[in-house]
Amino acid sequence: MCGIIGIVGAKPVQDRLIDSLKRLEYRGYDSAGVAGVVDGHVERRRAKGKIRALEDVLAAEPLPASVGIGHTRWATHGAPSQINAHPQRAGRVTLVHNGIIENYAELREALKEKGRTFESETDTEVIAQLLDYELQTRPPIEALKATLDQLTGAYAIAVLIDGEDELIMGARRGSPLVVGYGDGEMFLGSDALAVGPFTNQIAYLDEGDYVAIDRKAAHVFDEAGRAVQRPVRTVAAAAALVEKGNYRHFMEKEIHDQPDACQHTLSAYINPTTGHVHAPGGVDLARFDRVQIVACGTASYAGQIGRYLFEKLAGLPCDVEVASEFRYRQPAVTPATLAIAVSQSGETADTLAALRWCKAQGLTTAAVVNVHESTMAREADVLFPTHAGPEIGVASTKAFTSQVAALTALALAAAAARGRLKPGEEAHDTRLLLEAPRLIAEAIQLEDQIRTLAPELAKARDVLYLGRGPMYPLALEGALKLKEISYIHAEGYAAGELKHGPIALIDETTPVIVIAPSDPLFDKTISNMSEVAARGGRVILITDEEGARNAPAGARVIVGPTCDPMLAPMVYAPPIQLLAYYVAVQKGADVDQPRNLAKSVTVE
Ligand code: M6R
Repeated sequence: MCGIIGIVGAKPVQDRLIDSLKRLEYRGYDSAGVAGVVDGHVERRRAKGKIRALEDVLAAEPLPASVGIGHTRWATHGAPSQINAHPQRAGRVTLVHNGIIENYAELREALKEKGRTFESETDTEVIAQLLDYELQTRPPIEALKATLDQLTGAYAIAVLIDGEDELIMGARRGSPLVVGYGDGEMFLGSDALAVGPFTNQIAYLDEGDYVAIDRKAAHVFDEAGRAVQRPVRTVAAAAALVEKGNYRHFMEKEIHDQPDACQHTLSAYINPTTGHVHAPGGVDLARFDRVQIVACGTASYAGQIGRYLFEKLAGLPCDVEVASEFRYRQPAVTPATLAIAVSQSGETADTLAALRWCKAQGLTTAAVVNVHESTMAREADVLFPTHAGPEIGVASTKAFTSQVAALTALALAAAAARGRLKPGEEAHDTRLLLEAPRLIAEAIQLEDQIRTLAPELAKARDVLYLGRGPMYPLALEGALKLKEISYIHAEGYAAGELKHGPIALIDETTPVIVIAPSDPLFDKTISNMSEVAARGGRVILITDEEGARNAPAGARVIVGPTCDPMLAPMVYAPPIQLLAYYVAVQKGADVDQPRNLAKSVTVE
């Protein structure tokens, strides 16, 4: 997980950049770098490996600057190396970047045709080249806007320009960026923690914002180029790691963290340059003839989505079971089974016991875990990490989408290892998968629409959630989210099961939430919705544009992004999370700490 710091300072910045980068080490990284304005031009220092390697470089060749940027890089495009480390440079532009530029290959080709040459394998250098190109004809802030308009993907950036000695520009889409207000100094950071040593006055940029800071002020613009103000708030520096930002609750923040969380998770599995997807830890997925997933609660629903993917993409039989049942029923397992425990905390007692049981049977064990120092992470043969960052809200959100991202990547890796992909398909599918962070960010934009549904839903006594295929576990997850934070009774059903019992519950007081982006099963789901409508049920359909065109009369329709079915469980998770969130807020419930629940259930 990359980290960013930028300082327009009144005094030397080298040590302060390093100090800030050290605070960002918790995010994980494989190279680091800084750049600063020295005698009217920008110089940079970079090193592969830990920050102490960068400190060695700086000891040999100091950076006597009072304006500078710094970065810790978690490799995505291009191996960890000094040449791929940030800051990346092109002409007058020196910049650092978090995120993934999806259309970097097209942009790179177009820039090469204009005679531009590239020195690194990174997508970041494409932004630098593009911005340098735009600078030929416009002032910096306009050139930045023209550059951003050409980028597809998720990013946070900080930029220095040769000849602009007291300026740092920044922008965010999908990845967070904050502005720090100091005393005669200004800062940019990838989170509050980055600027924590220097100021506790922070403004969080909104999605699509871009900014220019000098020593005295920040000039912020929204996506449309309008000058805007973002509120400045006081944060407790010590608490910055678990800071809520502008959000009212951690859950809301964590829903918004999802593009970043997914992108960081996918980076651990996919090399975007080669299009290769792999299982971490050198596991050969071709040697297994079965996968057994064990998990609890939300993690078990992520596991159920994983089952659809392992079987569909890789033709690999997969069972999923809640760990509390699995651990006590003496399941019949075969030796070539890969046992995967899925857990945010890595400490859930039942999941840990199931994992240990599998290990005792001699199975290869893996842990899809978010807390990498946890017991499961340590005890499993291999760690398949998620990189959601700390999840504070008891209701799991970004950990869930990160688990689904990891399992999707693993299913693809299994498909490749088992020879199930035609030439070119692996690269094609990983490219699709890397679109997930952007599409998740688009789905989060439905927030205002979803909020309007809350007052009515908050009055319901029962709510049903329906889905088919991988949308069925998402329906289960939607129902769990609503139950746990709003205390409204909710159930998830496979849409085709409705007529085998639950349809008896339907009347005009029971909202039915159908999660159905258009796919080959969509017509069947339409029939199920008509069955509900015919009995006076109120249907809320969460779908895409094509689905909306075919929605049954009377249904309230929320139109989400159009995406490949492989991505739909991740992309359609935020709307159901937001729905539960706003219903709970409407009811005045304690969103982050619902009654009777603990974040990590370490007892039976
Ligand atoms: O830490 P884990 O992922 O193992 O936790 C499993 C469940 O306790 C957890 O997902 C729980 O269901 C959440 N409260 C759901 O939001």
